Amino acid sequence: MKVAIYPGSFDPITYGHLDIIKRSARMFDKLIIGVLNNCSKTALFTSSERVTMIQSVTKSIPNVEVKSFDGLLIDFAHKNQADIIVRGLRAITDFEYELQLSQTNKVIAPNIDTVFLTTNLKYSYLSSSIVKEIARYQGDISAFVDESVALLVKEKIAKKHQEG
Ligand code: PNS
Repeated sequence: MKVAIYPGSFDPITYGHLDIIKRSARMFDKLIIGVLNNCSKTALFTSSERVTMIQSVTKSIPNVEVKSFDGLLIDFAHKNQADIIVRGLRAITDFEYELQLSQTNKVIAPNIDTVFLTTNLKYSYLSSSIVKEIARYQGDISAFVDESVALLVKEKIAKKHQEG
């Protein structure tokens, strides 16, 4: 059974991520979406909120599982018997970081390979940070994220505003 991991922060999940998920789920028997449980202060959603959100927008894809992880990605991959990591490549600006990530992972875990899917042209400009930035200024994010995600982003930002 071919198991692949699609790791990321997904804060929040965008249509660009969903496109990569749908395409890679067709290539592998099982695709595990690994949500990095980092303690970054800039994260809008907790990792469990992100997991729930991703489960909801991927519920129609039967071979997708969503889990959060701490620590090294390759340890998470080993724990889940995955030997492939999937990453999306948008533009040349992604390349340097992605090369460093995949080559470092390859040195630590030679049995694990990273495969890159170039993003759909429709979403090549899109990032979670841009979505948050637009939402912070009450902009419309419905072209970038699922309706249910847009609602959660709006609610979360309103709550953060109230808290000051
Ligand atoms: O969506 P992102 O934030 O670009 O995803 C980055 C991610 C989660 C793939 C990367 O930060 C990661 O793998 N973090 C886990 C820690 C780790 O394994 N670091 C060493 C890789 S060089």
